[in-house]
Amino acid sequence: MYKIRETIIAIVFTSMHFSALAQHKTIDQRVDSVMRLMTLDEKIGQLNQYSGREATGPVTARNSGILDDIKNGKVGSMLNVQGVNNVRQIQAVAMQSRLKIPLLFGMDVIHGYKTIFPEPLAESASWDLAAIRQSSHIAAVEAAAAGLNWTFAPMVDIARDPRWGRIMEGAGEDTYLGSEIAKARVLGFQGEKLGGLDALMACAKHFAAYGAVSSGRDYNDVEMSEHQLWETFLPPFKASVDAGVATFMSSFNTLNGVPTAASNYLQRDILKGKWNYKGFVVSDWGSIDQMIKWGYVKDKKDGAMKALISGCDMDMMSDSYINNLKQLVAEKQVSIKLINDAVKRILYKKFELGLFDDPYRFCNEERQRKAWSNPAHKEAALRTAEKSIVLLKNSSNILPLQKHGQTIALLGPLVKSKRDLQGNWIGAAEFGRITSMYDGLIQKGGNDVHFTYSAGCTIKSNDTTSMGEAVQMAKRADMVVMALGEAGDMSGESRSRADIGLPGRQMELFNAVKATGKPVVVVLMAGRPMIFKEIADKADAILYAWFLGDEGGPAIANVLFGDYNPSGKLPVTFPRSVGQIPLTYDGYKTGHPFTTSSTQYQTGYIDVPNAPRYAFGYGLSYTNFKYADLKLDKTSMARTGIITASFTLSNTGKYAGEEVVQLYINDPVASVVQPIKKLKDFQNIPLKPGESKTITFKINNEKLSFYNQQLQWVSEPGDFTLMIGSASDDIRLQSNFKLQ
Ligand code: NOJ
Repeated sequence: MYKIRETIIAIVFTSMHFSALAQHKTIDQRVDSVMRLMTLDEKIGQLNQYSGREATGPVTARNSGILDDIKNGKVGSMLNVQGVNNVRQIQAVAMQSRLKIPLLFGMDVIHGYKTIFPEPLAESASWDLAAIRQSSHIAAVEAAAAGLNWTFAPMVDIARDPRWGRIMEGAGEDTYLGSEIAKARVLGFQGEKLGGLDALMACAKHFAAYGAVSSGRDYNDVEMSEHQLWETFLPPFKASVDAGVATFMSSFNTLNGVPTAASNYLQRDILKGKWNYKGFVVSDWGSIDQMIKWGYVKDKKDGAMKALISGCDMDMMSDSYINNLKQLVAEKQVSIKLINDAVKRILYKKFELGLFDDPYRFCNEERQRKAWSNPAHKEAALRTAEKSIVLLKNSSNILPLQKHGQTIALLGPLVKSKRDLQGNWIGAAEFGRITSMYDGLIQKGGNDVHFTYSAGCTIKSNDTTSMGEAVQMAKRADMVVMALGEAGDMSGESRSRADIGLPGRQMELFNAVKATGKPVVVVLMAGRPMIFKEIADKADAILYAWFLGDEGGPAIANVLFGDYNPSGKLPVTFPRSVGQIPLTYDGYKTGHPFTTSSTQYQTGYIDVPNAPRYAFGYGLSYTNFKYADLKLDKTSMARTGIITASFTLSNTGKYAGEEVVQLYINDPVASVVQPIKKLKDFQNIPLKPGESKTITFKINNEKLSFYNQQLQWVSEPGDFTLMIGSASDDIRLQSNFKLQ
């Protein structure tokens, strides 16, 4: 019996193996057969990408040039073409070219396409990988029905500087969390298999280290040690490769003096060399051209040469490849071998997507209509938005709000806001789909609660005309809920801020309202961590609501009224002062460690504490979780071994809730100084009131490894400390073990 089963497994496995191989071979062979037909011009055309904003619509002088280029086989991909009709129309032009090679259609589908989900940083606060994967998948379903087959997401840049506007687009500061989220997003966008009608090619961007731009200023340089690059910034890219990401995008920054579009080290040595990556790399918008402004190349031809040689396969919007590669080949400055390699990588993806079989397969009005009106998508956006909210403060358990016929004054410039809730990068979003916080609250508490409303001030001006009215409303109400923060367009690309406080006169409004003596709950919305000292000190409760997308209003209402018990945890440190930046939970002790017993000669500031305002991993709940009885199955392990740590988590409060339990490890003595703690695992645990569960974590050699001075990924024998907690600064259980 056993033998028969074994044989069946072997047959199934072998045939799977061969069919996978056959399919692989088929695509390679098909690519080669197309390559044999292509002229050099046509090959170079495949490496060229244009924007559809210039091409869509009735043919005019402005767009006819692009359409002519497509017809002449000079374009391999278009970005920003919206809607089935436009995609179909432009693909039809490609079908008039000599070899009828279909175009790839890409767009920034970042946090939803038609249904807008929370911004990526917000969603990362859920620490819920299944929810994140699902939201990327829904975005893919909606976009793939509208003709697109490629998203320029996920952005997997580790970001440790909240001044940088694009921090909203990533998963925050941590390498482990960032890598897990990168995988979830790639798998979500790409579905079961590339080529499915519910899937887009994903793009891991921006390779690399864009999140570390100097001074948090967008497009700036990055100077970074090899050690930091490998330890902190590269792992989410490697995780994306492991998850099968179809494409990569280089970045706008330099890395140690070299613009990344022309980084041989990143693109050839690491990505296509050490990691053996088979997908293709697209430049960022115009970044090959921008190397002239950096002072790295003398003209576009020089840029094309350096970028292609160093592994950039596709030129997004700089005309550098299309106008120069032919001559560079003729002059033997660029080898045809390198061009062939780039073209093959792109054609391979076109085959994998099934575009050679049917160039219009992603254009389907019926599918688009269904996907765009699927109520399950709206429901998922609501559930994800709820999970993304972080409860920062809840003095005297003022939240959740009760529905006792009280009057609540809703004050602040974001109360009725809709467009702001969607934040940055909003695909084909519709204004009409957004529910404001005001509408969400009215729908929820309308019959039992009396709401009054005043904006009190604006975000982007000094207009305080309605501040007096707001204060009067606060006086007449039983309590106040304020919605304050940034406008939706104050974070994102080219939206760096030097002052990350509340813009306009919002703090003045808060102080005036607080001075009435009424309890004040503040809902903060932003695409980044902000600094809001007086609110942190004086508000009775604070919810950090980021930009939550279309369903932000109902999600906030559900949390405020206790229909959802907040479970979000910060994926990034919230500093007290801009002067502390960059501030992360995984810093070092230094030779002059900080102690509270002395003030001299220790690492710190004389004017601000070292501690953040809110630490990485922090977030409260309406219930309480007790951590107890940590047990390790052994206290010493070999490199090949595993230690199982288990403990009991109990919900000791009144509400059902979910806790994100976090596992941190410290290596106290190592050949490269190690951070005081590093996140190595986490789990989301739902518990009913009074319920307890045994939670286990497995510790293997991988979790104890780091990059040594020779940049080898190693573990070193000795003692380790394992910490389990509710936040990086709230460790509840701790134990030591040895690696032999
Ligand atoms: C520039 C951005 O840096 C990049 O992330 C985006 O994908 C491209 N523009 C295309 O819109």
